[in-house]
Amino acid sequence: MPPNVVDTQNAEELTEYLEQLDLKKLVRENKIYAVYPEVYYPPLKPYDHKDPGLLADPKKASIYDAAEKIFNLTPHIGTEVHGIQLSNLAEQQKNDLALLVAERGVVFFRDQDIRPKKSLELGRYYGPLHIHNVGGHPPNVPEILTLQIEHTDPKVRERLSYRSPGDGWHSDISYELQPGGLAFLKIDTLPGEAGGDTLWGSAYEAYDRLSPAWKKFAEGLKAVHSGDVHRETARLTGHPLRREAPDNVHPVVRVHPVTGWKALYVNRGFTRRIVDFTRRESDAVLNFLFDHIETGADFQVRFKWTEDTVAVWDNRVTYHNPVYDYFGSGLRHGYRVSPSAERPYFDPNGKSRREALAEKEAAEAKTKS
Ligand SMILES: [Fe+2]
Repeated sequence: MPPNVVDTQNAEELTEYLEQLDLKKLVRENKIYAVYPEVYYPPLKPYDHKDPGLLADPKKASIYDAAEKIFNLTPHIGTEVHGIQLSNLAEQQKNDLALLVAERGVVFFRDQDIRPKKSLELGRYYGPLHIHNVGGHPPNVPEILTLQIEHTDPKVRERLSYRSPGDGWHSDISYELQPGGLAFLKIDTLPGEAGGDTLWGSAYEAYDRLSPAWKKFAEGLKAVHSGDVHRETARLTGHPLRREAPDNVHPVVRVHPVTGWKALYVNRGFTRRIVDFTRRESDAVLNFLFDHIETGADFQVRFKWTEDTVAVWDNRVTYHNPVYDYFGSGLRHGYRVSPSAERPYFDPNGKSRREALAEKEAAEAKTKS
């Protein structure tokens, strides 16, 4: 264990440790600090999720008024915010952030001073923090997932050797009964001036780009999402599976509880089959949907990180794909905090995002005239 890391159960020491914890410093000094303890957690218990986005101001004025600059990176997904520190959000800003992210899919905040203690506090505002089933974390802080690929490790190399670039598309831990809602990822160390970008895709627009017949068809389907890949990661790396990585059934089209918009909720990373279909039927449907999502450049954003940027995305309505083009060129490090959200559901009264935005525009035009 690195010399500046405390491994303790003492509450006072832990608080002090968390106050001081600076992962950017730690990774620079020690290169590798993540631990994979042999502890086992019971299965997650269902909980009643109340989304803070429901308390948001529809105009999100607390964010727009406070920001120096806000601009969209593409029409359908991705917004960049300058001049707001996530370490210092007022309650209304937290609620407005939930709505902004629910609408835009992913929102980027440059030059952030936030460190683990405040990241955990912020994350907990949106839901119970998910402890990753197999990923590494800083000592004593299992709610933080360390994101650092040790590509020089032969076991990691073996795991990645079976991978094609498109295989990385996923929504976080979609196999859980109540998968991730918002995710906060701070990248604080980059391998060089280029490399290690991340792509996000809009699940709203993926749904909207289906034909009316396909939309209707997809709305009637359910799919199995599986933790098999994390079970396999544990086997290949020799790290303990600290909690069962289950299989769960979710609707193929889900509705976001705050926006009420429909999103296409399958991903190559974790979705394995369509319920009640034969294997060939299921493969044909899922392969079509995966290709639709992964080749959908019209509704993706590719983000070039700068150090200390935080991305906040909503896993319910987006997919993402890390770009592994930097191996051999240096260290890339970040950490993620992942509040859980509601069990995915379909609501026939949900609307497509395009429909909803068109209605909103028409209503505004009517008010003006
Ligand atoms: Fe992810």
